[in-house]
Amino acid sequence: MSGFETKAIHEGATPDAATGAVALPLYESAAFAYPTAEGLASVFAGKEFGYVYSRIANPTVTAFERKMTALEEGFGSLAVSSGMAAIATAVFALAIPGDEIVASKSLFGGTLSFFNGLVKRQGIVTVYVDATDIAAYAAAVTERTRLIFVETIGNPKLDVPDIASIANVARAHNVPLVVDGTLSTPYLFKAKDAGAALVIHSATKYITGNGTAIGGVIVDCGTYDWGKSPNATLRTSAAKAGASAFLSVARKEIVTNTGNCLSPLNAFLHYLGLETLALRMERHCGNAQLLADHLSRHSKVTSVNYPGLASNPDHNVADRQFNGRFGGVVTVTLGTSDAARACINNLRLAKNLANVGDAKTLVIHPASTIYRDTPAEEMRTAGVSDDMIRVSVGIETIDDIIADFDAALTKV
Ligand SMILES: Cc1ncc(COP(=O)(O)O)c(C=O)c1O
Repeated sequence: MSGFETKAIHEGATPDAATGAVALPLYESAAFAYPTAEGLASVFAGKEFGYVYSRIANPTVTAFERKMTALEEGFGSLAVSSGMAAIATAVFALAIPGDEIVASKSLFGGTLSFFNGLVKRQGIVTVYVDATDIAAYAAAVTERTRLIFVETIGNPKLDVPDIASIANVARAHNVPLVVDGTLSTPYLFKAKDAGAALVIHSATKYITGNGTAIGGVIVDCGTYDWGKSPNATLRTSAAKAGASAFLSVARKEIVTNTGNCLSPLNAFLHYLGLETLALRMERHCGNAQLLADHLSRHSKVTSVNYPGLASNPDHNVADRQFNGRFGGVVTVTLGTSDAARACINNLRLAKNLANVGDAKTLVIHPASTIYRDTPAEEMRTAGVSDDMIRVSVGIETIDDIIADFDAALTKV
């Protein structure tokens, strides 16, 4: 199987051997029975593989992990309870107190809050750089740096760093590059080909595609030699588990012990969502481009930010990196905070809520919601202004989306 769409539909699981069911079986079972005490003991001892307890692993969750691995063409995956859980699991598997993270400034608000709160209180310092300033990454790396973290498309700044160049910096310093590919998805961007070590996704977004489930996943691209990691736990793990070192530590030490596992029902929904990811992303990207073009010409709109606009500073990098597609999120500024909120209040089709990547068009006023507790300067560097609306462009008929914005803007 080589085509993305074919893998999206067929990889992950085969028809159920017992019943012939072709839809993925949903194993809503907390635990798995064994006929003998010796049999269960043997699985616990790691002598043979078997499912034991769904906090550790579950067959429906495994199917989602396998489909993600196939789509990313990676080494293996670990599914967890949310995108934030994926970030937390990756960070705490890679870094210990005294270590450092080099991260882009323009990250999702929840990630910034995590790095500046709990991660900092654990004694792990984050050094921020401008996402697109490649030299700044190299300058920020020290001997204590344990990961470089960037978003493929910054949410909501929508800046697009050149991931392959950042991966070169990471490789030169033997530091794993962790990319958050939530807004690009494996359909637009193959993290492995760019040289990332790990790619994480909030499966809540485009992967599911309809806003029905919270989940996350970490894919090990298989590009980083964990046996040479500066992290002693990962080196020890590599001596036993080889290339599975990271996934083994993340599953056993973090997911199993903190319990941030993915529920089988959510894995089922993510798995089904992936089957149509390619079709949906084509429509999301097409609609976003048409809406961005239209709003750029609108007299009530001060500015439009979308990597698909030729005037965007990251247009060429995005064009090359995402193969002529630019994602489904657009931001617009309307001059004042009142105008931004009035526009949102007058939209009928677009829903005002805190999410992206739904089939439905979604909007939010980030400054008064996601970033309300973020210091002004940090908010500015994350690309958020008071007069800005973030639009996650859905897959409805584009004429209806445009008509909704036109009608709302006449009342601003
Ligand atoms: C880029 C990005 N990463 C991570 C997350 C966190 O994902 P979740 O809400 O599934 O925890 C989000 C959520 O909006 C996001 O936009």
